[in-house]
Amino acid sequence: PKLIVVDRSGDEKTIDAGEGISVMEAIRDNGVDELLALCGGCCSCATCHVFVEEDWRGPVGAAIGDEDDLLDSSDHRAAGSRLSCQIMMTANLDGLRVAIAPED
Ligand code: FES
Repeated sequence: PKLIVVDRSGDEKTIDAGEGISVMEAIRDNGVDELLALCGGCCSCATCHVFVEEDWRGPVGAAIGDEDDLLDSSDHRAAGSRLSCQIMMTANLDGLRVAIAPED
């Protein structure tokens, strides 16, 4: 599935993301280094924060549980906020567009 990433300077990059990997991994494996993802995808650092574009919020779903709590600790939480290590790329997310959140 294709994943479109908007970095902090507004530049857009289209990535061919493997099915079953997380959005965080897809972003990091494709040379976008703004996403620190310090915990490596364990849902404990919140440095993989992205904003899911409005049209995609339904299919992607909202943050729940620990992810929801971690996002609450961010100064930049907004509609569409998700931790990208908790979004798995699947065929139905082909064309997903996310923007990297500002650093906390
Ligand atoms: Fe740490 Fe996502 S990489 S919470």
